[in-house]
Amino acid sequence: MTSRSNIPGHIAIVMDGNGRWAKKRNRPRSMGHQAGLKALRSVIEESVRNGVKFLTVFAFSSENWKRPASEVSQLMKIFLRALDKEVNELHENGICLRFIGEKSDFEAEMQTKMTNAETLTATNRQLVVNIAVNYGGRWDITQAARKLAEAVAEGHMAVADIDESRIAAFLALADSPDPDLFIRTGGEMRISNFLLWQSAYTEFYFTPILWPDFDTGELTRAIAAFQSRERRFGKTSDQVRSTISA
Ligand code: FPP
Repeated sequence: MTSRSNIPGHIAIVMDGNGRWAKKRNRPRSMGHQAGLKALRSVIEESVRNGVKFLTVFAFSSENWKRPASEVSQLMKIFLRALDKEVNELHENGICLRFIGEKSDFEAEMQTKMTNAETLTATNRQLVVNIAVNYGGRWDITQAARKLAEAVAEGHMAVADIDESRIAAFLALADSPDPDLFIRTGGEMRISNFLLWQSAYTEFYFTPILWPDFDTGELTRAIAAFQSRERRFGKTSDQVRSTISA
């Protein structure tokens, strides 16, 4: 069980290792993604139990279109089926679902199901789950820059008004606080174009565990590692300690 104090309010996860998990078992990669979905379901449940308020997961990157067409199509089938099967139960448990990324590249059926899930769960606040699909951190910053330029061109904003908070307001996660903890499974130690802007002061946790094996015990371990860190946000250790004891 996780210590109740200093729970990360927002956890971001790169769910890596589904393909290797399947390969180790001589099964098709799609089986790994299916097992990955199961792991995601249990991480959502455990996040609620621990009082985490925002969870952002990388389900499909802007670069994942480059995978073999058969794998992309299997992933789309898994997403569609998950939207049909899981959304009502998530809704009953107070979960708010949001999809971030360039959604217009998906087929109409997928877009409709994502919008319906967002509408149904919009006011739920037990846990907000942001699912990044066709997402990339550079895409996000680029689309925000374009919107800012439009606002200036249309006279709604002056160039001098552009500051960090205005940029953040146009990013896909404008309604979520910055992540406190960033978890990447599968052994790679890189950010892979995930939440570039939002991770400026996020604590990183890398584990070799493959995503389908990331169970509630692994989440507890990641949260415990976060709880042992000192977050200074640019200040000195002495300054941070005097604020805590004040
Ligand atoms: C990375 O593992 C995983 C993905 C690209 C897909 C993630 C998808 C899921 C967890 C399925 C369900 C999610 C939702 C939101 C319905 P990889 O394929 O890169 O694994 P590898 O590095 O071992 O090849």
